[in-house]
Amino acid sequence: MTPHNHAKEGDYAEAVLLPGDPLRAKWIAETFFENPRLVNSVRNCLGYTGTWKGKPISVQASGMGQPSLSIYVHELINNYGAKTLIRVGTCGGLNAKVKVRDVILAQAASTDSSIVKGRFGAFNFAPIADFGLLRSAADKADAKGLKFHAGNMLSSDIFYHADGFAGYDKLPDHGVIGVEMEAAALYTLAARFGVKALTICTMTDCLITHEEISADARQTSLKDMVELALDVAVEA
Ligand code: HPA
Repeated sequence: MTPHNHAKEGDYAEAVLLPGDPLRAKWIAETFFENPRLVNSVRNCLGYTGTWKGKPISVQASGMGQPSLSIYVHELINNYGAKTLIRVGTCGGLNAKVKVRDVILAQAASTDSSIVKGRFGAFNFAPIADFGLLRSAADKADAKGLKFHAGNMLSSDIFYHADGFAGYDKLPDHGVIGVEMEAAALYTLAARFGVKALTICTMTDCLITHEEISADARQTSLKDMVELALDVAVEA
């Protein structure tokens, strides 16, 4: 039990998927898990445990942004023994080659967040995905015929940037292909506590072309992405 989570020790599997949205956590548990069981509902930030293809798996909503995700992830690792954490989310596109519906595997995560930057003094720490999870996700995405890009993600603390695309400054020119709000903090916590983490996002809106995903395509793409994440998580 923690102030943010009333699950008991042992209520979570070692592998946990992390969508931002609590209702997406519910949808993942009810759509994909065998025998889903609600383990947390504090603040309606829902967490469930069940099995996928017979293997234990959990899903816990992280909320939006790095402060919220950091609380849930810190506790999943330190209070509940999580060893493999896979964020499943959506992201904006910062490179015209990445099309709406494409999957981005965040190989690394750049950030403007003081949560990450504040800890390393003179150094620019590079938050990176676990290589084994990344390789597994890339292999499985290939096998499923999913179009994906592995690259540098921006985890920004700002959704409504006052300067729009220009607010991301030189990052798109340095190979940063997508923008979301959580991966860098997830990777930094995973590094600190010696566990594995990966972020998988569907690109839903391109900040360059202004192309946006349709409601139907959003649901199919999310389904493909979640199945990929589940397959990677239970084999880790
Ligand atoms: N920023 C911009 N666009 C987005 C994001 C984000 O965090 N997530 C999905 N589209």
